[in-house]
Amino acid sequence: MFFSTRLPKSLEPNQFTKILEEKRATGAKILDLTQANPTTAGFAFGPAFPISPADEPAKGYEPSAQGLLATREAIGEYYLNNNHGRIDSDDLLLTASTSEAYSFLLKLLTDPGDEILIPAPSYPLFDFLATLENVRPSRYMLREDTAGHWRIDFTSLEGEISRLTRAIVVVNPNNPTGSYMTADELQRLSALCLTHDLALIVDEVFLDYKNPGSSATPISAIAGNTALTFTMSGLSKVLALPQVKLSWIHVNGPEPQKTMAKQRLEFIADTYLSVNSMIQHAAGALFSCQEGVQREILARIRTNETLLQSQTGLTPALREGGWYAILNLPETIGDEQCCLDLLRESAVLVHPGFFYDFVENNRIVVSLITPEEDFRLGLLLLQDYFNSQHRI
Ligand SMILES: Cc1ncc(COP(=O)(O)O)c(C=O)c1O
Repeated sequence: MFFSTRLPKSLEPNQFTKILEEKRATGAKILDLTQANPTTAGFAFGPAFPISPADEPAKGYEPSAQGLLATREAIGEYYLNNNHGRIDSDDLLLTASTSEAYSFLLKLLTDPGDEILIPAPSYPLFDFLATLENVRPSRYMLREDTAGHWRIDFTSLEGEISRLTRAIVVVNPNNPTGSYMTADELQRLSALCLTHDLALIVDEVFLDYKNPGSSATPISAIAGNTALTFTMSGLSKVLALPQVKLSWIHVNGPEPQKTMAKQRLEFIADTYLSVNSMIQHAAGALFSCQEGVQREILARIRTNETLLQSQTGLTPALREGGWYAILNLPETIGDEQCCLDLLRESAVLVHPGFFYDFVENNRIVVSLITPEEDFRLGLLLLQDYFNSQHRI
């Protein structure tokens, strides 16, 4: 075969994309309840960002594998200002995106054929991020406890550890379950990593978006130093700026692994030097917009979640944070059928739970940053659909 086996065998669009394209071709308005791109979701904050493209290039090019010190210091301030903890800017390395951070970490930690443990349900991109690095993703389960909190199933996690496992990935809070990693989970994960010689990779892009109605206590993994711990985040969610392409990896853990990891990450980053200098210079000013941006996003989430609770007969799962809601379907309707019906018949787009590897087939996922009017109209159609199913 001509092309790498790292790539999917077929790049054909899936059934959902095909129906979506057919609908769009007819000029139909799609009520997309999965909208997660903050730049097209009708927020007011966009134009206020203090980037001046006209004069930034004049600052010149100072190639730095780790990233400019002033930018790393601005990120350190972000952690302090948000009560996430204190970091040393020397423990940070900049990347162009969180996805790139994953690829750097897999280059650092794995050889072809190795395995990483990823949560299920969780972020659908993991399969691609892993296989593009020739690594096999192996899933451990999150389960709802009796109070409805999604927690790590340590029996399933330990059962998946093999001699090929190199790292455990945690998303804090997880997408789409919105569950924060607890202090106890961090401690147990670190202990497991130490015992089995694994690294801990924690993705905290949604850390700031706590549900004010939840009693969860967000904790960042930056303080985790028992095992080699990599904590990632970036401006795509912190400032709702996916287009500026600035993320970071924080490294912590016992010596000499910590220093060795930092040196090797710098070597990888130096090979690409992918982070735009203009954005690095602008980062300090950009962070000054954080409060306004996050306030507006949290207000949108609150409005949509209130609608969800008042306008549908469906019970959303408990949500500690993040941008997504999980809806539990009536037992009689499967997620795939429900999503295909809604798209075909009502032009409403919602995600089936299987996109996120839910084991149950009665979950659908919506984005709570969807523009409010689309969300309201979409929920009405969703309710009509469920009423019609009841009558059958
Ligand atoms: C859990 C999680 N991590 C990372 C990302 C992507 O971040 P970036 O745009 O910085 O690659 C997303 C995007 O939705 C996400 O949900």
